[in-house]
Amino acid sequence: MSELVRVSISIEKPLYERLEKLVRQSGYTNRSEFVRDLVRRQIVQREWENDREVAGTVTLVYDHHVRGLTDRLTTLQHGHRGVVLAATHVHLSHHMCMEVIILRSRASEIRKLTDEMRKLRGVLYAELATASTGEELH
Ligand code: NI
Repeated sequence: MSELVRVSISIEKPLYERLEKLVRQSGYTNRSEFVRDLVRRQIVQREWENDREVAGTVTLVYDHHVRGLTDRLTTLQHGHRGVVLAATHVHLSHHMCMEVIILRSRASEIRKLTDEMRKLRGVLYAELATASTGEELH
């Protein structure tokens, strides 16, 4: 944990009131923690915009009865060893599978891999959740 510094900022009254409302509505007990998390969100957003090394998860929903799809997904992941850190598969129904893949790499590579999986026939949903390696968040 780093040393804490106190800062004071100037902000228009209506904006201040909106800030206080947001803090309450978001369930924060403490304005400082809310502002810290806002800053961290900005940092992560910039890490992705600047193509830094990041982490993220991709959630896939797909129909495993589509011929060749399971093989294609496996081949794609084998081709990205070191990028794919882990994957968890659950069987949603007779046809449907969900897979959550944890990735760490440059932002552009994660986006490209996500797009490649999304384009496969039988993949019905592919959503990337952006996160961070956390190095710049503390
Ligand atoms: Ni399955």
